[in-house]
Amino acid sequence: MSADRRPLISGNWKMNHNHLEAIQLVQKLAYAIDRDDYAAVDVSVHPPFTDLRSVQTVLQADQVPIFLGAQTTQEAERGAFTGEVSASMLAKLDVSYVIVGHSERRELFAESDADVNAKARAVLGAGMTPIVCVGETLDERAGGRAEARVTQQLTGSLSGLKADAIADLVIAYEPVWAIGTGETAMPADAQQMCSHIRSCIGATFGAEAAAAVRIQYGGSVKPGNTPELMAQPDIDGALVGGASLDADDFARIVKYRLYQV
Ligand code: PGA
Repeated sequence: MSADRRPLISGNWKMNHNHLEAIQLVQKLAYAIDRDDYAAVDVSVHPPFTDLRSVQTVLQADQVPIFLGAQTTQEAERGAFTGEVSASMLAKLDVSYVIVGHSERRELFAESDADVNAKARAVLGAGMTPIVCVGETLDERAGGRAEARVTQQLTGSLSGLKADAIADLVIAYEPVWAIGTGETAMPADAQQMCSHIRSCIGATFGAEAAAAVRIQYGGSVKPGNTPELMAQPDIDGALVGGASLDADDFARIVKYRLYQV
């Protein structure tokens, strides 16, 4: 992590918790995370769509400075897209961060880099910040193709965006083999890829955008491995799945700096 970039710790709840459970979880987080934490770290939670309004109400009523996030969006503004939710609808609910191109969306819902690009544009167009996910599979890593794969995803997902938009967005490096498996990338390997991501951004969008863009690591992030991951110079945050469903674990991840050696 660099002193110039504010860390961002994000909880991706995936398809877990109905709106009543979501209210309970966010109330627990409101107790567990305190002012000193928010002074040092940005925190976002990404509940399912059906929970957003309830979580927004709790955050607003209790003035909790956790940013509200979503897990995906539809790229079109409105129309005949049964089952979809547009970026402007999310913005209206005070959503600040929207995950796009999560590997589960890419794999289970066949989202291409072009789709991810369109979604990132829709998020930016609605005044929110995309968290653009990239990451290689185990086969790609074993075959020595991890960097090439991530470069390709970055090129496609960020195509045509302006350098100042890039400076404000968030990239999440999530090796697919580390998601939900308990396997975490070694901090040095995660750092190497995050540094590669920053170089790619620099080559396409310039040094200023590369210095400003925040890069999260994701994949079996836990309280125990966060301090070492966050100590890496090019890792500016974490995208947390499983451990974000437990208020104590997520709060300990947010408080990583208290455990840093
Ligand atoms: P995990 O998920 O922390 O459960 O591995 C991370 C993610 O999918 O964003």
